[in-house]
Amino acid sequence: MEASIIRGNLRDRIQNKLACSVIRDRRFLDDEQLLRSEQLAVLEEIFNANVRDAEISEISDHFAPILRNDHPYHLALWGKTGTGKTLTVRFFLNLLAEMCSEQAIPMREVHLDLSTPRPCFRALNDLACLLNASKRYKKGISLEELMLRIEESLADYKGYLVLFVDEVDNIRRDKDTFMSFLVRRLPQAVPSKLILVFASNRLTWPDNLDPRVKSFLRLNELIFKPYDAVDLQKILDIRVRKAINPEAVKPGVIEKIAALASRDHGDARQAVTLLARSACLAEKTGQSITLDLVDRAASEIEQDKYVTMIRTAPVQLQLAMAAVIQAARAHRGSALNSNASYDAYQHLAAMAKIRALTRRAFGDLLNELDMYCFLRAHVFSRGRYGRNREISLDLPAETLKAIESAILLNLGLGRSTQRTLSF
Ligand SMILES: Nc1ncnc2c1ncn2[C@@H]1O[C@H](COP(=O)(O)OP(=O)(O)OP(=O)(O)O)[C@@H](O)[C@H]1O
Ligand SMILES: [Mg+2]
Repeated sequence: MEASIIRGNLRDRIQNKLACSVIRDRRFLDDEQLLRSEQLAVLEEIFNANVRDAEISEISDHFAPILRNDHPYHLALWGKTGTGKTLTVRFFLNLLAEMCSEQAIPMREVHLDLSTPRPCFRALNDLACLLNASKRYKKGISLEELMLRIEESLADYKGYLVLFVDEVDNIRRDKDTFMSFLVRRLPQAVPSKLILVFASNRLTWPDNLDPRVKSFLRLNELIFKPYDAVDLQKILDIRVRKAINPEAVKPGVIEKIAALASRDHGDARQAVTLLARSACLAEKTGQSITLDLVDRAASEIEQDKYVTMIRTAPVQLQLAMAAVIQAARAHRGSALNSNASYDAYQHLAAMAKIRALTRRAFGDLLNELDMYCFLRAHVFSRGRYGRNREISLDLPAETLKAIESAILLNLGLGRSTQRTLSF
């Protein structure tokens, strides 16, 4: 009897949850979880909605010569993060491959994704793997050997080879060797018609190239502008249709997310993240996505950014930040000077068993924190008594609390330390 009541309750609860759920398919709020075919289907809809029309037309013009057996130059795409470079190129190359196969033009496309930094060795090894020319090595094989294997694997291929080198600025060691191999050596060593497509969010990337590579590199360049509010609205609309229960989205929500995102950065990735976070909050609180929830989600995302930044910062910087937060709390809003925060810093360093730096070095830490906008340190003169700093914390109280907890946890101090400190 007992068991059947529980069963009934559970079933009702789950049914209820499903009936009023906000999110229908979570995967469409996170591209990493989408299969390639699904990603391309979403993209098709997006590009049908005329987003990135100008860029797609330019890329098509660039590659058109392939269809009359000519050999286009290489292509470089610049643009800030989240402006759709990777998506657009992948979508386009997919279409191009289809068109080529319809016309029996041999064409291969390879996407070398360097979104995490890596040395030339790993990049070449990745490329060799993509071309089925080698297995994955940690070491024990020279750069030269890897290059030879890549060349051998292409020795009999006479068709077009479009090599999309994504986030090309992420080659950390032997960058010139890598570029010189792609730009000078490979095209001469293999019969394939190689077309390189580079993408990067650093406009200045070509300036740092070896001049010998640069003079060889025939590039067409294309800049991706940040998305405007209208584009973002179209992008979000499609996501909402795929991922969210339309009744759970209050009027004005998409417009608001698009407006916030276009005003701050024009980054579609962040706009989708804000939509996803708002939907999660709505689901948690059992209501629809409202304008207020969007604001809350935006401030949570902002908070996470600061917390992640400080969590990965050097330990002394973390100590200084926690000390300032605690000293400010002890001073309850009255102006905080560097002496009070230095005392708090020494105290905290002793508790964490970390060597405290000198007063001067502590001042440098404050300047660094100021640079990252964690606090404001204003230097003022006290006449013949020298100079002092006035420190103020402008971040919202909740963010400060989250930052402090993250630091104390990192230092192995937990939250209990806050109570034991007194000034
Ligand atoms: N046109 C678009 N339609 C839908 N979503 C988009 C579009 N452009 C970008 N996005 C979203 O933004 C994310 C980032 O896009 P993409 O990876 O193409 O940007 P990027 O310019 O390559 O950025 P990065 O320089 O950081 O690599 C995508 O995963 C997707 O969620
Ligand atoms: Mg990209």
